[in-house]
Amino acid sequence: MNEAVDQPILSARGLSHTYPNADGGLPALQGVSLDIPREAFVSVVGPSGCGKTTLLRLLAGLRRPTAGQVIFEGEPLVGPRRRIGFVFQEANLMPWRTVLENVTLPLELQGVPPHEMAARAADLIGLVGLQGFEDTFPHDLSGGMAQRVAIARALVHEPDILLLDEPFGALDALTRERLAFELLRIWEARTVTVVLVTHSITEAVLLADRVLVLSPRPGSVRLDLPIPLPRPRSLGLTYTREFGELAARVRGAIEIGP
Ligand SMILES: Nc1ncnc2c1ncn2[C@@H]1O[C@H](COP(=O)(O)OP(=O)(O)O)[C@@H](O)[C@H]1O
Ligand SMILES: [Mg+2]
Repeated sequence: MNEAVDQPILSARGLSHTYPNADGGLPALQGVSLDIPREAFVSVVGPSGCGKTTLLRLLAGLRRPTAGQVIFEGEPLVGPRRRIGFVFQEANLMPWRTVLENVTLPLELQGVPPHEMAARAADLIGLVGLQGFEDTFPHDLSGGMAQRVAIARALVHEPDILLLDEPFGALDALTRERLAFELLRIWEARTVTVVLVTHSITEAVLLADRVLVLSPRPGSVRLDLPIPLPRPRSLGLTYTREFGELAARVRGAIEIGP
């Protein structure tokens, strides 16, 4: 048995975070421990304000915990890493750059030669279904298209793990559904590990191998539920009894009092 293969790609050990304030600090997360297996699709749900964004930023190395540790590939994580991609709730595209130029921006900052940048970006723009829109400016994109660009931009460094913070939160229901399945397809095509924060229980269960439910603030892991539904997944699954039971367990864990 090869230990490196079985080792979780990302782990949290006793992770706590308190934001400084005038009242002696606001505890956002308390004692979160979790393991993200390599190439897994893990959803994180929890009530608004429970610390989901804080958790994701700690897992990305964008913020340091006040206690505990994040372990990335067996080593303590002390800052952002190229191999950890991040997609925010807002696409945050550069309005004066085209779709192509937004996707290549991280490579440009890294000094990758132009022909290589263009080839990698074209490939990703195809993967997220935006071929033909390379020269379009963000102003002319729908919300769903902008979020596709953000996903392509996050994938441009070929990260081993992609962390997404409610990436579909601002989209209408149908676009949201379509993009959720696009994300599944990308996950399958790239064999990347995905951690998706979402407020939709259906989305969490439908996409993931595992759903983590956080308690109200300060967030801690209240439920870690394996989702043994067969793949490929389709919307029809949501009407099955098995799906209903899993979703009910997630909902139950969210709804029990603090
Ligand atoms: N930069 C910050 N400074 C101070 N408090 C913050 C900051 N970011 C988040 N918080 C607070 O921490 C708690 C958890 O926030 P957050 O992680 O954004 O929750 P969620 O993403 O689950 O809605 C909230 O009470 C929020 O107001
Ligand atoms: Mg949030």
